[in-house]
Amino acid sequence: MFGSVFSGGIVKKAIEKGFINVKVHDLRDYTSGKHKQVDDRPYGGSPGMVLKPEPLFTAIERLKGENSDPVYLMSPQGNPFTSRMAEQMAEIPRMILICGRYEGVDERVIQHLVTDEVSIGDYVLTGGEPAAVVIIDAVSRFIPGVVGKMESVKRDSFFSGIFDYPQYTRPREYKGKKVPEILFSGNHNRIEKWRRKKMLEKTWKLRPELFNEIKLSPEENKILEEIALKESKNNESN
Ligand code: ADE
Repeated sequence: MFGSVFSGGIVKKAIEKGFINVKVHDLRDYTSGKHKQVDDRPYGGSPGMVLKPEPLFTAIERLKGENSDPVYLMSPQGNPFTSRMAEQMAEIPRMILICGRYEGVDERVIQHLVTDEVSIGDYVLTGGEPAAVVIIDAVSRFIPGVVGKMESVKRDSFFSGIFDYPQYTRPREYKGKKVPEILFSGNHNRIEKWRRKKMLEKTWKLRPELFNEIKLSPEENKILEEIALKESKNNESN
């Protein structure tokens, strides 16, 4: 599950260059019985299986040693993973991600081993592995050197808390669809303003609640008011 993701693209290069290091551990290597059992039926009865505490305690105690690495459990009940979290996690030298499976993880693991539970969205995956891949990818982008220019990471969608502006490349016209004229104006100031407006427009349309989280400049607030007014007029006439 991890092999294909880390054997290509930017994450692979980051691993090769030593910017990041990812080690995948099989929980079965931390079991004691001959059956290498990592899960068991839930007490109190319910369908499915629960990850046992012993292999996880053993694995994490061994991996941590004397270090105080944070331990994140991938879980649909976790804190929603955001760009801000990715940026903060990129400051942490080493961390352990637990991929939950089956119906869940013994609560004692969550109470006594886990620093935080992290969710990548409001849906349930069959296991935490895809979530760990998402987190490793997003966190890596914030590690200096991984993406060519940190400036481009910081300009990206969600770094500023809202959506990105639309991008265009050649050809200038494709099947009658033209690239907006302003991008050829050579006026960087006007282009910047246009881009900012587009970011505000798109965010307002798709995720207006994101504006609760960020602080806009007075000028941006004014643009947003105009966008909101135009939108409400459009809705009325529909
Ligand atoms: N494991 C199962 N579903 C998950 C989700 N949405 N996020 C993180 N880990 C998960």
